Formats: sequence, C-alpha cells, structure tokens
Amino acid sequence: MGSKKDGPRLSVELGPLKLKNPVMAASGTFGYGEEYTGIIPLKSLGALITKGLSLKPRKGNPPPRLAETPAGMLNAIGLENVGIRAFLDEKMPFLRKAGCPVLVNIFGATEDEYAEIARRLSEVEGIAGLEVNISCPNLKAGGSLFAAEPKSVFQVVSKVRQAASCFLMVKLSPNVGDIVPVALAAEEAGADALSLINTLTGMAIDIKTRTPILGNITGGLSGPAIKPVGLRMVWQTSQAVRIPVVGVGGILSAEDALEYIIAGASAVQVGSGHFVDPRVGSRIIDGIQEYLKTQGIPDVASLVGSLRAGQDLRKSEA
Ligand SMILES: Cc1cc2nc3c(=O)[nH]c(=O)nc-3n(C[C@H](O)[C@H](O)[C@H](O)COP(=O)(O)O)c2cc1C
Repeated sequence: MGSKKDGPRLSVELGPLKLKNPVMAASGTFGYGEEYTGIIPLKSLGALITKGLSLKPRKGNPPPRLAETPAGMLNAIGLENVGIRAFLDEKMPFLRKAGCPVLVNIFGATEDEYAEIARRLSEVEGIAGLEVNISCPNLKAGGSLFAAEPKSVFQVVSKVRQAASCFLMVKLSPNVGDIVPVALAAEEAGADALSLINTLTGMAIDIKTRTPILGNITGGLSGPAIKPVGLRMVWQTSQAVRIPVVGVGGILSAEDALEYIIAGASAVQVGSGHFVDPRVGSRIIDGIQEYLKTQGIPDVASLVGSLRAGQDLRKSEA
C-alpha cells in the first residue's frame, strides 16, 4: 500500500511539508480522524485534514443538512465543530498518534478570529500545519465571503501568516468569477500551498411543498458533479502560482486523482467519496501506484502538471 519497496515513488513535497503519498482526507468528511478507526489505517494516508475549527464551539445549521443530487450531494452543515478548547483537550491526544501528518482546517468570522485561532494552533505538538478555509462570510465586510475578493484574501491570509509560523495551506472557493487573482493574492500573502476547490453553492427544492430541501435553503455541492470545475481551476491556478496546488473535488477513484495531478496538483484530497466508500483513500493510493507501474513512471512528482495539451493551448490563445 503506497510504500512497497522498489515500487514507484509516491512521496511528494508541499513546500516544507513532506507527504509519503499525495492522497489526503478532506476537511469535514473525515471527522477528527478517530471516526475512521478500524476502517482505514490512518498511517496509510498522505495526510488528514480535520473538520473546520473555530475559536468557540458551533452548533451549525438547522436540519435537513444534506440532500442528494445527481452525481453529488448538497451539504449545509454550517461548520458545526467542538471549538478549539475541546479540540485540543479531546481530539489532539488521538490525532498525535494518527501516524500521518495532521492538518487543522480553521475559519473565523473576522480577520482577528482567523489570526487568533492560527496563533493558538501554530505551535501545538502533533499539528503539521493549518488549512485556512476562507469560504466564510466576513462579518466586518457585510457578510461577503473572504474568498470572494483578492483584497480580502490578501488581508486575512497576511494576518494568519503573521500569527502562525507553521505550514499554511489556503483553501480557495470556486464561487468566484476568476480564481487566478484570488490564488495570487493568497500566494503573495504568504501561503505555502493552495487547496481547491471548496463546494459550489447550490440549492434543491421539494416541488410538492414548494419548500427548500435544506434547512439553510442553500448548501455546498460536492462529489463527481464538481470534478470538471475543480480540474479546470487547478489547471488555471497551478500555471499562475509558484507554490504547490492541492486538488479537491469529486475524487472517487485513482483515475480522478491522476487527472488532478496531471492538471497540476501536487497532491489531492478526497471528500464526499468517503461517504460512498470509507476506504476510498487506500484504494486511490493503490491505484496511483498501479498506474505508475503500468506506465513505467518512477515518481508521481514527475506527473504533476504534465498535461500535454496545456502548452499548445496556451500558445494558441496568446
Ligand atoms: C459534509 C461536508 C462537510 C464539509 N466541511 C468542510 C469544512 O469544515 N471545511 C472545509 O474547508 N471544507 C469542508 N467541506 C468541503 C470539502 O472538504 C471539499 O472541499 C468538497 O466537498 C469538495 O470535495 P469532494 O467533491 O471530494 O467532496 C465539506 C464537505 C462536505 C461534503
């Protein structure tokens, strides 16, 4: 599984963070890791990312919080989480023994909240780094998403960077007109890596009652339906920035993961795929290994951004 001797090399580097393979569990779909005990050996994963964490505990949105859609699902969990104190006391003791790097996904309602939670987690033993979820309403800017504007992205990421010396990955939202300026703003503010995409905002309606299916009315679309969007954004972003890009969105198989890697992702995250098959991570790692062997490629890193049409397309557009 991933680490077979003399097989192709699966290890990748995200700037300062070294992973034994490029497959991570995405935030919000893998709990705090402990929920998957006995289902998948956590040490087989490249990394795991915990459920989005805020300073204070949050109850989340009213039910229903999930809805199935063709080729995907909508969720409106509302970032329910235990808050930093319970996380450090109750979740970290287990996570320290996970056997793979643990990244903590964080969010806040203001720049100061982001900076404060980053500062308090930055030096904690057993945390390999932070994933900064900027798909949250900026309360001081009237509720528009931090992720929506390059300026607010730059400001919030700069504050987090000043507060935390650890590895920082900034998670971008697909709910923007042009992803590239936003990605460049995060890079300029000091991100070590970028992950994309978060969910696409959507909704579903019960036509008998003419009511929204989700308690929150709108929710985030994930799953196979969003893979083409994620791929396109990873492809665009990875050509524009110098820091590593991590691909997420609709990955359920090794083939899906390989598409992202070829598009330019140095690593990938698996999200709602866990709800279809909780062992999906192991399956994908084995499948990547198999592909590399069959193709005679000695190192997964050499596949990153190897899309053949990319060069020609860019030239023909210029
Ligand atoms: C139920 C659920 C909860 C999620 N919670 C978070 C979260 O707390 N923080 C975050 O950054 N992303 C969260 N996400 C987004 C996923 O990490 C991922 O970016 C998205 O689902 C797209 O990947 P997928 O198609 O593989 O699911 C959540 C997704 C789902 C389905």
